[in-house]
Amino acid sequence: MDAPRTPLVRAVRGVRGTQNLARAIARAFGPRAFYALEGDLGAGKTCFVQGLCDGLGVRAAVSSPTFAIANEYRDESTGRRFLHLDLYRLSGPDELDTIGWDDYLDSGDPMAVEWPERAAGRLPPGAIRVRLSSGPGPDDRTIEIDPPPPAAV
Ligand SMILES: Nc1ncnc2c1ncn2[C@@H]1O[C@H](COP(=O)(O)OP(=O)(O)OP(=O)(O)O)[C@@H](O)[C@H]1O
Ligand SMILES: [Mg+2]
Repeated sequence: MDAPRTPLVRAVRGVRGTQNLARAIARAFGPRAFYALEGDLGAGKTCFVQGLCDGLGVRAAVSSPTFAIANEYRDESTGRRFLHLDLYRLSGPDELDTIGWDDYLDSGDPMAVEWPERAAGRLPPGAIRVRLSSGPGPDDRTIEIDPPPPAAV
């Protein structure tokens, strides 16, 4: 049996550093991955999603879904879709059905979820857990990816 692989841990600096790592991660895992993005307010989860989209060639203006819980980005030239959910304001697990959670999972499109703790128990088994933490400097982040990507990044 293969030994369990240890998570990838990287220290990055600045928005660019986070986006660059996310871009490489997206390319390593490919277009059907599900990312559960953990971290405090302002940790850089949305910033990471910008890099994921870019890495998959989905050109879109990624921003926090302020009023909606789900943002669907579609690249008009390629037709590729990327799903970005922010569950911070989810009223409860029942609301996952209202927003069509299972349909999103079944679509097989790449998907990233902020505040995945709110959907505990309904995350797909193959979810890639990404944990962002801040410090020591204001622009420093430590990013842990579990499982680690199948290819070098
Ligand atoms: N290395 C870094 N990576 C990401 N963001 C950084 C970094 N350094 C500084 N920042 C700043 O931290 C903030 C991260 O914001 P972002 O919206 O990505 O956080 P978030 O984790 O999605 O927060 P929320 O839970 O509120 O959605 C931005 O203001 C960004 O400029
Ligand atoms: Mg965010």
